[in-house]
Amino acid sequence: MYVEYVRICTNKVSIIIRHKQLERYMINKIEELLAEIEAFTPQNSADVEAFRIKILGKKGALGALMEEFKSVPAAEKRELGQRLNHLKNVATERINTLKEEIGNAAAMNAAKIDDMTRPGSTESVGSRHPISIVKQEIESIFSRLGYTVADGPEIEDDWHVFSALNFPPEHPARDMQDTFFIESNPDVVLRTHTSSIQVRTMERQKPPIRVICPGRVFRNEAISYRAHCIFHQIEGLYIDRNVSFADMKQSLLYFAKELFGEQAQIRMRPSYFPFTEPSAEVDVSCSICGGKGCGVCKGTGWLEIMGCGMVDPNVLKYNNIDPNEFSGFAFGMGIERIAMLKYGVGDLRLYFENDVRFLNQFESAL
Ligand code: DAH
Repeated sequence: MYVEYVRICTNKVSIIIRHKQLERYMINKIEELLAEIEAFTPQNSADVEAFRIKILGKKGALGALMEEFKSVPAAEKRELGQRLNHLKNVATERINTLKEEIGNAAAMNAAKIDDMTRPGSTESVGSRHPISIVKQEIESIFSRLGYTVADGPEIEDDWHVFSALNFPPEHPARDMQDTFFIESNPDVVLRTHTSSIQVRTMERQKPPIRVICPGRVFRNEAISYRAHCIFHQIEGLYIDRNVSFADMKQSLLYFAKELFGEQAQIRMRPSYFPFTEPSAEVDVSCSICGGKGCGVCKGTGWLEIMGCGMVDPNVLKYNNIDPNEFSGFAFGMGIERIAMLKYGVGDLRLYFENDVRFLNQFESAL
């Protein structure tokens, strides 16, 4: 009986000792692992992954400890459980941080220039459209003479395109420009010239007026190398007291010299426009042959560049400006035509095709 008792006691003691040993072992193991985690310095992401498997993997160190944890008596579970949780958190956090650091370092390495002598790769740069280049150049020349830029709508009414510019109804001058009408309403048109912006400017502003009006215009014309149903114009208008024909001539000579070079000359030929009186066509000396005569100027030595004239007193009256007090001049030119002369472009349609081989040839300082 006593022997039996002693045996049971001894058993109990040995069980208690075994439990104590297990706890000690586990705490030691946890401390060891924490130190190992802290000291771990991987070379690459594969190292980190191997380490993760070793500690947190299914058959890893933490899993083994969890297995042992099952045989820990309930009274001890609390403290050991906390230690195990701590180990798990520290391991997970450290592994995540290492993964991120190694990922960033790899990205930086990839971006590093390994060969400083290697030629750089060039980006292809677009160029401005020749119509934009010429438009800006014309605007810039007139801005130096004190002109500002004005704008207006492309869809207009009869008043702004014709009537206020002294085109009487049924007057044959309306046939000078083949008009697109909108929805068979003869009062709504696509503007045939930028002169309509003159009218809109006079409505808004009292003299002195000095504006330049660039814009797209529309005419019902068959498309060919020298005509298009859509093109661009620039209109100019100058109204003040005592504005004379000589002022106009000098301004346009300055313009021609700025655009085509100091050697450029102009001449004026009498012409007719309903909105100007007197009216003229302006020619510039041919910049290709210097005035001697060539294929471009058809042997004349001159190239037509614009229409101009003194603003008709009727136009001033229609726009509530007193013609006895004020006078002015106006001019209008096609941007495509100026660009053709400036760059030697032989076919108007090229401007609208947007072939990069054509467009890439134009460079602008503006
Ligand atoms: N509007 C005219 C046209 O489209 C161009 C023009 C000529 C405008 C003479 C003017 C001018 O202002 O005075 O053909």
